[in-house]
Amino acid sequence: MNIIDIHAHILPGVDDGSADLDESRKMLQEAYSQGIRAIIATPHYHRGQDIDKLKELTGILRQEAQKLDPGYGIFLGQELMDSEDILDELRKGHALTMAESRYVLIEFLPNVSYSRLYQRLRQLKMAGYLPIAAHAERYGCLREEGRIEEVIEGGSLIQMNYRSLTGNILNKNTRWCRRQVLRGNVHLLGTDMHNTGARAPRTREAMAWLERHCPKKELHRLVKKYPEYILNKKEGIVR
Ligand SMILES: [Fe+2]
Repeated sequence: MNIIDIHAHILPGVDDGSADLDESRKMLQEAYSQGIRAIIATPHYHRGQDIDKLKELTGILRQEAQKLDPGYGIFLGQELMDSEDILDELRKGHALTMAESRYVLIEFLPNVSYSRLYQRLRQLKMAGYLPIAAHAERYGCLREEGRIEEVIEGGSLIQMNYRSLTGNILNKNTRWCRRQVLRGNVHLLGTDMHNTGARAPRTREAMAWLERHCPKKELHRLVKKYPEYILNKKEGIVR
């Protein structure tokens, strides 16, 4: 199945992801071998960053991707960190949405309080954005029964990392993540790739589990159809 990866630190030299173009090229190749056919690059937002530079690097990366396959799609988004001024930064165009859509990928500190997380997501939603909680498996506050559902009912989307679905079945974290997928509490998956080493783009193991446990239609939604909603600026991602 052709995968669209919506979470990737693959732009060279801009954050804690790829160090240079050579590493980005290798990440593109590795991602391709894992079934990925389009990537939304999501460098970490930081104040005062040169957005034009990010766009330029996206263009360079796209050219590299198209050398591998003319259909390999590269788009630009950003991974925003929860902060008081993030909405203002979005409105001013200093922080980016996902591939020029209304979708916004936002991360929180792992120990964020539930009220803070919930309120930030609501604030973005009320302002007309479509917030996606990045690697939602990291936030301890969402482990309490019913909370992830409440966040979804409040209009937010849940992204989980492919890697979190892998590992030992006895691992509590792996089990929790898999359960959320089976309950329909996950809308989007991402590699969150950072390099060609410990945080390389890996989907194969997670896909093997997904193929065994998810209905085909559901799997297609997770890895391709819903990411296409972002690329096509279409709303309507549902549980
Ligand atoms: Fe990330």
